Amino acid sequence: MNRETLNKIIRNRKTVYPTQFSDKEIPENVINEILENAIHAPTHRMTQPWFFRVYKGKSKDILCQIIEKIDKEKYSSIKINKFIEKINLSDTVISVCMTRDKNNRVPEWEEIAAVSMAVQNMWLSCYVHNIGSYWSTPALKEEYAKYSNLNNNQKSLGFFFMGSFDHHEIPKLRDDISSKVEWV
Ligand SMILES: Cc1cc2nc3c(=O)[nH]c(=O)nc-3n(C[C@H](O)[C@H](O)[C@H](O)COP(=O)(O)O)c2cc1C
Repeated sequence: MNRETLNKIIRNRKTVYPTQFSDKEIPENVINEILENAIHAPTHRMTQPWFFRVYKGKSKDILCQIIEKIDKEKYSSIKINKFIEKINLSDTVISVCMTRDKNNRVPEWEEIAAVSMAVQNMWLSCYVHNIGSYWSTPALKEEYAKYSNLNNNQKSLGFFFMGSFDHHEIPKLRDDISSKVEWV
């Protein structure tokens, strides 16, 4: 692989929302390949803290049922309905979770950082497969954890929405590198 290809993948990856997805189905083997790339992210002490639940096709209904259980006093029905709409517009929704190391060998932030790197691997892999995706971290993720029987040592870190999308190379705006880097 040449560096132009890598630069292109990193710099053109972008957030694509479910309203932009097309109906074209994502094959299961592609989802597996993306998840395989996810688990190749680095982790301190090799704790490999990620845990993913895949909701695709019919099993998206199971996710909708969990979300519908959420206390309407805590989260407005408008927000819950919007969330369900996003599930329905997606081919696949991956619940992104972190499993805490049994002996707490590394600080929690490092485990969250490792899961985030796994998500970046997924996001980049989606780009090369013409899949649109985005990481959503709504407040209701804690309620999801409660109703979807995550273990006490697990946390929900949000949802990764995926759907087919033809990527057009629109460069994303970023602050100039000079404001983020100090060469000493
Ligand atoms: C940890 C994390 C959490 C995010 N949560 C949300 C979210 O809850 N809702 C949302 O619309 N976008 C969310 N995003 C996507 C960002 O809004 C998006 O990455 C950012 O606007 C930059 O756009 P780009 O991904 O196209 O470069 C999240 C991104 C990250 C890294």
